[in-house]
Amino acid sequence: MGELVDAFRQVTETSAFAGGPFVARFESEFAAFCGTRYALGVGSGTDALWLSLLALGVGPGDEVVTTPNSFMATAEAISLCGARPIFVDVDAQTYTLDPQQLEAAITLRTQAIIPVHLFGQTADMDPILAIARRHGTPVVEDACQAHGAEYKGRKAGSMGVAGCYSFYPGKNLGAFGEAGAITTDESELRAKVQVLRDHGQAAKYFHATIGWNARMDGIQAAVLSVKLRRLNASNTARRAHAKLYDELLADESRVIRPKTGKHNTHVFHIYAVRVKNRDEVLQRMAARGVNCAIHYPVPIHLQKAYAFLGHGPGSFPVSEQCSQEFLSLPMYPELQPDQINFVVKTLKECLSE
Ligand SMILES: Cc1ncc(COP(=O)(O)O)c(C=O)c1O
Repeated sequence: MGELVDAFRQVTETSAFAGGPFVARFESEFAAFCGTRYALGVGSGTDALWLSLLALGVGPGDEVVTTPNSFMATAEAISLCGARPIFVDVDAQTYTLDPQQLEAAITLRTQAIIPVHLFGQTADMDPILAIARRHGTPVVEDACQAHGAEYKGRKAGSMGVAGCYSFYPGKNLGAFGEAGAITTDESELRAKVQVLRDHGQAAKYFHATIGWNARMDGIQAAVLSVKLRRLNASNTARRAHAKLYDELLADESRVIRPKTGKHNTHVFHIYAVRVKNRDEVLQRMAARGVNCAIHYPVPIHLQKAYAFLGHGPGSFPVSEQCSQEFLSLPMYPELQPDQINFVVKTLKECLSE
């Protein structure tokens, strides 16, 4: 707490509220953490996705391939560029973009591919990157749920042309409000985002292009610098909690536990099991004092906002089944083993009720 109060004091004393030295410091710390040359602080994860696509030149008439098993923002960022989201279903084991189905979705209009590193593990990146390379298509990683996750020893956000992070307060690395970042090795992309996030100005009041206000707050950057130092420890705690959940649920045939891909280091932003009658189970758990969540009750292709794409039920069966069965159990670093035991005991009772 003392370090956070100090961080607030420093920002206040220097009035470095929008952009400025605290953002620059966090950017270099976060780039070092992710193993990229650069990180760029922006206003949110949605900004990170949107500005990455804009910087890559995605616009009206283009297509961007992603998965419907994600938070709405992934597709929203594509639509905000004027492009069309093209969905590919997820792998039934890891719930991330199924590389086997990717190639069929790529057309001459495809300008980017966005694998989503859902729940804290990256998509199976090597086959995705190989397909992307064959088609000359940039890969933008949606790493908004995967702070510190690794694939074959490489950090989320360091494998595509850009990685997009959210620091929404509930994330593994959470700010005290809204914030996000783009990680990249590309100096040209970095330069474009620096202009786009600041009203298209390269020099103050000289606007070369139309951008937006997507700057990171100094306060958020200062808080994130403090919290970044604890990220590895809190991810280790999350993995230990997931292991205990796994052990306690191992003999429970009514529950499908999350699986970690063989090349992945998972950071368990979310520990989602799959159960039948999910909605009833959720209500029974809540009645017994255990609040669970659903990520997400409606896959993106069936959201009202995307009705115009014309996808009906059955279009992406794995994502649809997940949306009916996912139940996110409590997961945060401070969880105690007796709490996990209580959650699992309660879940078993609710499944039998
Ligand atoms: C997978 C995914 N993508 C994008 C976002 C958007 O991030 P933000 O809420 O910071 O705009 C989120 C945030 O929840 C997310 O989980």
